[in-house]
Amino acid sequence: MVVWSPLGFNSGQQMANRFAMAPLTTDSSHEDGTAAENELEFVRRRAASGFGAAISSAAYVEKDGRSWQGIGAAHDGHLSSLHRLAQAMRAAGGLAILQIYDGGRIAKPELIGEQCLRAPSAVASLRPGAKTPRAMTSDEVENLIASFRQAASLARKAGFDGVEIHGANHYAVHQFFSPRANHRDDKWGGTLSRRMNFPLAVAEAVRSALGPKLIAGFRVTPFESEPDGYTLEDAKLLCNELARSNLDYISVSLDDYRNSRPAGETRVYHGPVEKAYTPVESPITAFARVVSGRCAIMASGGIKTCMDAEGAIKIGADLVAVGRAVVVDPEWLSKVRSRSEASILAGLPKDEFEIANALSIPPRMVEYLLSRPGWIPRL
Ligand SMILES: Cc1cc2nc3c(=O)[nH]c(=O)nc-3n(C[C@H](O)[C@H](O)[C@H](O)COP(=O)(O)O)c2cc1C
Repeated sequence: MVVWSPLGFNSGQQMANRFAMAPLTTDSSHEDGTAAENELEFVRRRAASGFGAAISSAAYVEKDGRSWQGIGAAHDGHLSSLHRLAQAMRAAGGLAILQIYDGGRIAKPELIGEQCLRAPSAVASLRPGAKTPRAMTSDEVENLIASFRQAASLARKAGFDGVEIHGANHYAVHQFFSPRANHRDDKWGGTLSRRMNFPLAVAEAVRSALGPKLIAGFRVTPFESEPDGYTLEDAKLLCNELARSNLDYISVSLDDYRNSRPAGETRVYHGPVEKAYTPVESPITAFARVVSGRCAIMASGGIKTCMDAEGAIKIGADLVAVGRAVVVDPEWLSKVRSRSEASILAGLPKDEFEIANALSIPPRMVEYLLSRPGWIPRL
């Protein structure tokens, strides 16, 4: 089966199999952005089941772009925490990749102070209760690119094998690409090609900080389901440009890779999401054709079995990332490997104490998971 075969990246790094642990925020870091012991244990236990790579929860690159109580990669004070995280993620010898992000207009006012909310344009997100950010100055945009570069350099010093730019799920990099969020009329906005400038500049900055031998990945939401959002055709053009910038992979962020459903900005996890736009082909197939072997394609969303993973590879992915299945069952991959899929835990237990203890899930993360009904299955 292809899923158990190794994968070589452009940078020369090798993944022992095609399974990556998806980035999973635990919302449990210390206030200063250093990793807490229980979130290291969450990652260590899951990585130990043999993933070819583990991708970290998203680390903020500037404190004003923080969207939850997660890890930071914003200054030298984060270095030793990042080093411990990389070690935990390598529990079974797989690659350790640090995901980096900025929240832009969906940074959390309670964490950063409402007056600090800044984004490509002064347009509020569709999330209930969202505050209107102020538009970033062009100096702030340049500084944010420099912060992504610095975060990648911290990742290299901390011993990570690579970095994934979080360009998906409505955070700042996504916002710069979105005609809904980006109404700028300078080099960072306006036309489609100018809306690509920020994601491309971040990709270039990250590659220059990493050098040629570490992995650089980019996570993208393949289209926006909101009215007036960017389309799959727009995202294909972005992927084509990204593939020119020495990337190792593009990760396609979907809730379920089979029905091409990206998470909407309002994040309603139960019931169907209203779709303003439906692509005619799978974004995975479309992006695989566009990049045409220049970098790998990672699929994610709804992978619960080995056949699900093989299915994603059949339609064009080179590797898959697995999220909720490993939240619910920390030993998910070893059970898949030993063909004991029947013993995989199908949902979180009823008892919250049991969830935290038996499954090594930090208590704050348990709260966060349970606050979004329909997101994670319950027994
Ligand atoms: C608790 C939780 C935290 C997440 N945190 C992140 C994150 O930090 N960065 C990111 O790109 N995606 C994040 N995601 C999305 C997952 O990486 C994944 O794309 C999504 O859950 C769909 O895949 P799945 O069906 O295998 O869970 C998170 C998902 C969950 C359930």
